[in-house]
Amino acid sequence: MTHTLIYPETARHNERGHLEIGGCDVVDLADEFGTPLFIYDELALRHQCRAYLDAFAGAPAEHEVVYASKAFTCLAMCRLVAEEGLSLDVASGGELYTARAAGFPAARIYFHGNNKTAAEIELGLDSGVGCFVVDSFEEIALLDRLAGGRGVRQPVLIRLTPGVKPTTHSYVQTGQQDSKFGFGLAEGAATEAVRACMAAANLEPLGVHAHLGSQIFDLSSYAASIEVLFAEAAEWRERLGFDCKVVNLGGGLGIRYTPRDHPSSIAEFAKVAIAATTKEAARRGLPMPRLLVEPGRSIAGKAAVTAYRVGTIKEIPKVRTYVAVDGGMSDNIRPMLYGSRYEAMLANKAEVPATVEVTVAGKHCESGDVLVRDVKIAPPEVGDVLVTPSTGAYGYAMANTYNGQPRPAVLFVSDGEARIVIERETWDDLIRLQHPLRR
Ligand code: LLP
Repeated sequence: MTHTLIYPETARHNERGHLEIGGCDVVDLADEFGTPLFIYDELALRHQCRAYLDAFAGAPAEHEVVYASKAFTCLAMCRLVAEEGLSLDVASGGELYTARAAGFPAARIYFHGNNKTAAEIELGLDSGVGCFVVDSFEEIALLDRLAGGRGVRQPVLIRLTPGVKPTTHSYVQTGQQDSKFGFGLAEGAATEAVRACMAAANLEPLGVHAHLGSQIFDLSSYAASIEVLFAEAAEWRERLGFDCKVVNLGGGLGIRYTPRDHPSSIAEFAKVAIAATTKEAARRGLPMPRLLVEPGRSIAGKAAVTAYRVGTIKEIPKVRTYVAVDGGMSDNIRPMLYGSRYEAMLANKAEVPATVEVTVAGKHCESGDVLVRDVKIAPPEVGDVLVTPSTGAYGYAMANTYNGQPRPAVLFVSDGEARIVIERETWDDLIRLQHPLRR
């Protein structure tokens, strides 16, 4: 292909000059299933899972790849992740409920959240969740009590904020001391948390967790975090007799949204993580812990595109041309929230040179509802199928129904077959939970 777009891996241009993914013509998919439409390349999802497993296969210690389901989850995705042999991170009762409904093995689930409710903790315990990642003193006390009531000794990881600030958007930085997540090191909160977990009769502290942030390109933050975690682990072993058997490095590896992005590869990430862990364990005289990573975006992000239908074209001479599509901030809030950049192309004109600079706008009642600013596409016409690549992570997951816009349908495509994994919401769905005003 001659383009510079970042497509899912099975994408190609077919003999009709259309974009094809998983052997399915994207224009036909848009006609059949409607738009906006999330189209996931199933093989690409599976290959990303395998790339993580392969990259860590050489680690000199046990390891586990935990898919962060917040990036994109549904029954089919949980099933795929289970089939590929990954574990699962859930960050709420709802994500846990989805995983359980999909039959995901509970022992391989890690339960996150900085304010888990009692009902969520009970769901986790009753489901037999393998590990809770405890995030507050309140949670430690509550989990201990609820686990005790069930006669369970619950394995936990202790979430730390190692004081490492990666270079990424401030909204998705989490490893710094000033964070709502986890226990800080500076004022001794983390030590207190380890002590509290060790003292809790019904908790079994296995180790530590630290997630630095998301869309990280520079791997040195991971090495810095590992250094801090091992220094603490060594101190806790000496002072508290704590045996740190698990180190979870969190997720965060960045992906390519546009040709200007140059993230590290999964293999490079694994190399840095393994090398730093091995080095720090040796330096501190600690046994190699079980190494966990928790990727979300780098598994789901590049596997999907969103297809829209062009509805209006507004040319403002000498200013810009707005191409409006039938979705927007309700199916992709990332440009508005983080200033994220995407590419765009016309699926029905895949072979036509991109010569016209346009701004792709959504259909919502906000001027800021712009999906892609100043992007070159083939000459647009009403009815074209416009595609934005790399929308697989935090797209559908953050979708909303602003302006009464039903959420899109989601397809998995492979080998020329399209399977609907999430139905399109209807206008009826929008009022399904509502009651009329009764006098
Ligand atoms: N582990 C924990 C504890 C997390 O909080 C996250 C993401 C991950 C793993 C996965 O991180 P990833 O590999 O996907 O970067 N909505 C934002 C991203 C929020 C990330 C939240 N936590 C966005 O659209 O960029």
